[in-house]
Amino acid sequence: MGPPGAGKGTQGAYLQERYELHPLSPGDLLRAEVARGSALGKEAQGYMNSGKLVPDDVILKLVANELDTLGEDRGFLLDGFPRTLAQAKALDGLLLVRNRALRAIVLMQLDDEVILQRLSQRLVCPKCKLSYNVVDNPPQVEGRCDQDQSELIQRQDDQPEVIRKRLEVYHESTAPLAEYYESSGLLDKINADQPIQAIKEQLQKRLDERLKKDG
Ligand code: AP5
Repeated sequence: MGPPGAGKGTQGAYLQERYELHPLSPGDLLRAEVARGSALGKEAQGYMNSGKLVPDDVILKLVANELDTLGEDRGFLLDGFPRTLAQAKALDGLLLVRNRALRAIVLMQLDDEVILQRLSQRLVCPKCKLSYNVVDNPPQVEGRCDQDQSELIQRQDDQPEVIRKRLEVYHESTAPLAEYYESSGLLDKINADQPIQAIKEQLQKRLDERLKKDG
């Protein structure tokens, strides 16, 4: 969890690889639907481009479908979900009926001013979803993805006025979830205003400790 631009996708890509987790990011799933031009994509696009949340029922269906594609032993990494109290409560039910449970929750914390700057400098790969920052985390070849050489693009919702709306929505609907998860004993808060490598090391240390404790 964390505000837009906190680095969820950047760190998620490392964690996915290290712990062999299936990525489950509603944002990525929705962008794939938009690119496909599906009915769901058409419905979601208006919300996304104006910085609003897509309705809970649409998101929950997406997440449930994705969970059902996984084998029983396959771990998964939720990125940008849950984002509302209703989604968090529904997630408890989705996991319970599938005999699954959350093992760790990470909240990445970052000030709005840093976010505005970071997101206006972001480029993304439309194919593999990797994020770059033209200043702090540039691609090796300008404008091309390091992994698959696709042409990098700017996301439609990375315009300053849309970023401001996304931040407003985050503070109103998503930030209160920290309280919901506080008593779970699973929540780690990370200062996201540090170099990418430093955050990566802290995350790995904390998650390794948690997984070791779980056995
Ligand atoms: P989503 O795709 O989830 O976007 P988001 O949460 O707004 O987060 P971002 O992807 O923008 O940022 P990030 O935290 O992954 O940061 P990144 O690693 O890229 O959602 C998009 C939309 O879909 C929503 O607005 C909503 O409409 C809809 N949606 C999605 N989930 C939903 C849900 N559950 N319910 C309802 N609607 C939903 O990093 C950002 C930039 O900073 C990059 O350029 C990166 O290179 C750079 N960077 C990263 N870390 C660092 C660092 N430590 N130092 C310097 N630069 C860094």
